[in-house]
Amino acid sequence: MTSSAQQISNTLQHKITQEINNKGSISFARFMEMALYHPGLGYYSAGLKKFGKEGDFITSPELGSLFAQSHAQLFQPVLEKHDDAVIFELGAGMGSFCHDLLLALDKLDQLPQAYWILEVSADLKHQQQQKIAQLPNHLADKVMWLDGLPEQPFNGVIFGNEVLDALPVEVFRYQNNEYHRLMLKNDNDLLSESWQPFSSELAQQLNDKKLNLPNGYRSEFIPNLNQWLTSVTTQLQSGLIWWVDYGYGAPAYYHPQRNEGTLVCHQRHEANFNPYQSVGLQDITAFVDFTHVAECLSNLDCEVKGFGTQADVLMAAGIDKLLQPEGDFVDYYQLASEMKQLMLPTEMGEKFKVLAATKNHKGDISGFENNRLYDL
Ligand SMILES: C[S@@+](CC[C@H](N)C(=O)[O-])C[C@H]1O[C@@H](n2cnc3c(N)ncnc32)[C@H](O)[C@@H]1O
Repeated sequence: MTSSAQQISNTLQHKITQEINNKGSISFARFMEMALYHPGLGYYSAGLKKFGKEGDFITSPELGSLFAQSHAQLFQPVLEKHDDAVIFELGAGMGSFCHDLLLALDKLDQLPQAYWILEVSADLKHQQQQKIAQLPNHLADKVMWLDGLPEQPFNGVIFGNEVLDALPVEVFRYQNNEYHRLMLKNDNDLLSESWQPFSSELAQQLNDKKLNLPNGYRSEFIPNLNQWLTSVTTQLQSGLIWWVDYGYGAPAYYHPQRNEGTLVCHQRHEANFNPYQSVGLQDITAFVDFTHVAECLSNLDCEVKGFGTQADVLMAAGIDKLLQPEGDFVDYYQLASEMKQLMLPTEMGEKFKVLAATKNHKGDISGFENNRLYDL
């Protein structure tokens, strides 16, 4: 670790301790928010390398262009319905999905009118801008970075890959028929965990899940997800909402045996379960409860149309047809290895799921011939 990275981490830890000292304690969700997104210091906000071999993890769009090319096929039927179609991507990482999707849609002669990106990290926004600048002008000119959620109505596609898992979560414990909220205190300059009652609003969000949990069960949920999804989808007049992430439906997510929750940290391609180490230098994420996402969307005049594994959805998009032995052996080997990582059950194929919903959209959508809505 470089000394500047260590300095950033020390400053961030100091800020977190200061806030705890001012307030007495902070929730785990607030800790996660600061650790990941504190301006200039958080994991996603400081300029450290996060994606790829020299980073901490790799995402599907960063493996190569097969993921985006498949999505061009999946989005085409919706885009062709709208002359003014917009693709609105949240959390665009290094900008690779946008870059490769626009190239693929150009080949299909199905370009959207505009491509909007909402990115909370100033550092990643800068990297996205550099990536998009490599596109031909007629594609690069379509991309616009929003300062906040869309304020004007639009038709088209809302998309996010590995964004929901990056939203701060509340950690709860179920003990003696009550939910307790994980709070963090300062114990001689070390973070220590303690449990407090939830506010009635957050307790309600947990009670609404109607979980049947054993005593001592610990897990997570995204607080106020309903509000967040409302603001993300409210301006969509007609189109598709498409989330890709690791997660499960609620029965598997809150399975009695998953009694330690799903929180996981990544640093240098190794997973660990200690969010309090290397603060700001490691990713902290939680798996996604897709039932919760589906329920929120259903309450927002959206129709949940599909829930499937990444492998099933990419296969339905015809990803196998993209593996043409055209280039030299090295090209082919690289494509085959990318395909394996996207599709194999032991890699990303089964762990990652796709949840798709439509709003005021007539007709079927692609990708869910093996529909698995029953898992939600
Ligand atoms: C794990 S990365 C995934 C990046 C990219 N989608 C990919 O697949 O490579 C999570 C991304 O979501 C962004 N993010 C987190 N919370 C967000 C929010 N509320 N709105 C928009 N972007 C967000 C992060 O800054 C980061 O770009």
